[in-house]
Amino acid sequence: MSSAAAESGLLFGTALCISDLLSQPRTRAILRDCSIVTPEYELKWDAVYRNPGCPDYSAADDLASFASNNNLAIHGHTLWWHEAVPPALPTSPENQFQEAALNHLRETVTRYSGQLHSWDVVNEPLESADGRADGLRETCFLAAFGPDYIEIAFRQASLLDPGAVLVLNEMGLEYDSPAAERKRRQMLALLEREKTKGTPIACLGIQSHLTALEQPRRHPEFRAFLREVRALGLSVMITEMDVSDHLCPRNRSMRDTIVADTYRAYLDLVLEEAKVLAVSTWGLSDDRTWLNSFRPRSDGARQRSLLLDRAIRKKPAWHAVRGALLNKDKQEPGPGKAPQ
Ligand code: G3I
Repeated sequence: MSSAAAESGLLFGTALCISDLLSQPRTRAILRDCSIVTPEYELKWDAVYRNPGCPDYSAADDLASFASNNNLAIHGHTLWWHEAVPPALPTSPENQFQEAALNHLRETVTRYSGQLHSWDVVNEPLESADGRADGLRETCFLAAFGPDYIEIAFRQASLLDPGAVLVLNEMGLEYDSPAAERKRRQMLALLEREKTKGTPIACLGIQSHLTALEQPRRHPEFRAFLREVRALGLSVMITEMDVSDHLCPRNRSMRDTIVADTYRAYLDLVLEEAKVLAVSTWGLSDDRTWLNSFRPRSDGARQRSLLLDRAIRKKPAWHAVRGALLNKDKQEPGPGKAPQ
């Protein structure tokens, strides 16, 4: 898979946890298929500070060593995310939270400076249901720093690791609904504001948690959105791609075909319109998908949402993604760091 991606100037990878490397078959599949890996949990603020006041980067260091020893690029995930703040950390008074958040960002970016391909500097900044005109989500970061928190985070990260591709990562931009279209408009306005301020955002991360039988094959609004992102001079990373099959019939072969078709149609569209640096799935095999807890099937069957089955065997989705990567017109390698 990684060679197919490389033929089109892209990286292909997946999210993984250090526990994944305990499995030989899974590790072999990661090394066969991937050229970039994303720590699913170990680099998050709450993971590093599981024990209050005692940062523990050991698991993240082990993942970084694995990647470096195997010439895999690393996508850092994620510096500031409202769902990954250490629970013991007081979010008020704001100045205390400000200091803690900046210390964590500086400490973490400095520790891995020069080692990462890219960083999800800020994750999921938008939530129109929170009612702000700018669409920003009401988070502890917004409360502590104000709307400039995004600029502050990106400028700090750029200062401390000028070689990393800095990514603003968001969910739901790919959905087909009035709320998603509102979110796409708000994201474009946000990117334009930040670009005017000189915020060093290089890339838009599109999480791409898709739903089979819901994700449209054509999707003109999303296609237009991708064109506007490209016109802003931004590249794109598909950061967390998976396809929930909870609406599909139980029949395994039918589900696998529908899921594969969803992957293929989505990637064909994105690769046609965007300057894509990397495509990553959120887990490599079905036994590792978060969707079994987040989107359980009503019939109790386990999700078949990823590219490999529970026995680490290739599914139709694997071939569909590889086909999309090979089908892409050749493009120059992206502006990000070359893989290590
Ligand atoms: O490793 C600890 C284990 O030692 C402990 O015993 C256990 C019980 O507390 O927790 C384990 O950590 C869990 C971790 O996943 C590793 O499995 C955390 O509790 C759990 O909260 C964490 O969930 C992750 C979640 O983000 C929150 O960080 C999911 O695996 C991960 O798939 C999910 O990924 C997010 C992206 O970061 C952002 N986009 C949405 C995506 C899905 O929610």
